[in-house]
Amino acid sequence: MGIFKKKSEVQGVDFNALPEHIAIILDGNGRWAKRRGMPRTAGHAVGSENFRKIATYCNDIGIKYLTVYAFSTENWKRPEDEVSTIMSLLEKYILEAIEEVTKKNLRLRFWGRRDNLSKNIIELMEKAEKKSEEMTGMQVNVCLNYGARDEITGAVQKIASGVLDGSIDAASITEETIGENLYSFGAPDPDLLIRPGGEMRLSNFLLWQLAYSEMFFSDKLWPEFDERELDRAIIEYQKRNRRFGGI
Ligand code: FPP
Repeated sequence: MGIFKKKSEVQGVDFNALPEHIAIILDGNGRWAKRRGMPRTAGHAVGSENFRKIATYCNDIGIKYLTVYAFSTENWKRPEDEVSTIMSLLEKYILEAIEEVTKKNLRLRFWGRRDNLSKNIIELMEKAEKKSEEMTGMQVNVCLNYGARDEITGAVQKIASGVLDGSIDAASITEETIGENLYSFGAPDPDLLIRPGGEMRLSNFLLWQLAYSEMFFSDKLWPEFDERELDRAIIEYQKRNRRFGGI
């Protein structure tokens, strides 16, 4: 930890005012590979390695929650070989995580629909969640087969059936009721959203939870987004004046 801390301090990160929760949209893997004359799938392989590196850095400097958009409900539209490469990279990541969560003190959670996924990956996800549930370090939320509108629709369905069976009084539904029915229940909202890859949009990511998050858009493609760029995002975040609708 010391070495990271020192490097970052030089660049002006205030370790007493870190964002508690960082969310990242992984973007730019395909373009990174194409620019090097490689198949898009090679970009995803480097991108998943980079996620390990950035997650380790976040854990080392003391970030409490890290949420990553790894595969959306819309990503099924991609060519079959690209989808299967991403799924096997995720499988590999989860397998390694099962081995390492205790040593790294990480809690792993998966946010997204469990249908459409292979039985094998679902079993691995459940195993990783179970093995890591008692860990007290950083919580990593991997959004897999995730879409924010789908998440909110699911919450509405659950609440509506509660109203129908009489367990929920419609007039007493609050923002908390909705929050309790989202995948993110139990985690604070992200303080900082980072999107590499040059695009400035949310792409159906955490639409409810990002209501008051600060945003950092980077032109770097995800495979080249390094610890120094993360420092820049945190420094930028620390300059912002968060008012949450107040003055
Ligand atoms: C976006 O880049 C990236 C994805 C849709 C997939 C990201 C998933 C992985 C790297 C798998 C492993 C993940 C983890 C968390 C270990 P893009 O293909 O949209 O890039 P482009 O905009 O350049 O085409």
